[in-house]
Amino acid sequence: MRVFVLNGPNLGRLGTREPEVYGSTTHADLVARCEETGRELGLDVTVRQTDHEGEMLGWLHEAAEQSVPVVLNAAAWTHYSIAVRDAAAQLTAPLVEVHISNVHKRETFRHTSLLSDIAVGVIVGLGVDGYPLALRWLADNTR
Ligand code: DQA
Repeated sequence: MRVFVLNGPNLGRLGTREPEVYGSTTHADLVARCEETGRELGLDVTVRQTDHEGEMLGWLHEAAEQSVPVVLNAAAWTHYSIAVRDAAAQLTAPLVEVHISNVHKRETFRHTSLLSDIAVGVIVGLGVDGYPLALRWLADNTR
């Protein structure tokens, strides 16, 4: 089964960006970890990151067209992008929302997600471990 792991703005700077919030794992490390988990679980995992909303919309449309499950960390777009929500709402396979930090312990503007009611589940605050957990859930619960 194919799975997309899609990361939104500023996540390409993981490892450098506010390490006290997001940890020291780089985006390249995260890609390697997701691919490794995919191999263990027999999933064909594609990891992508963009700072451009239109590019993210295109990837979500691709996932919708091809019925590919998505692990999505939409980063800041989570909190305000109706366009990302509308694209995620078109998905035809499960969506798992992931946040590295515990957004509920942070500023109030991070407590709102335009995606959570579309997602089958949400993993927040478990660091980058949230990604392999999401992949494992999809492997166990999606065919
Ligand atoms: C984030 C949390 C968001 O509030 C923030 O804008 C991000 C990353 C996380 O993974 O913890 O960029 O989605």
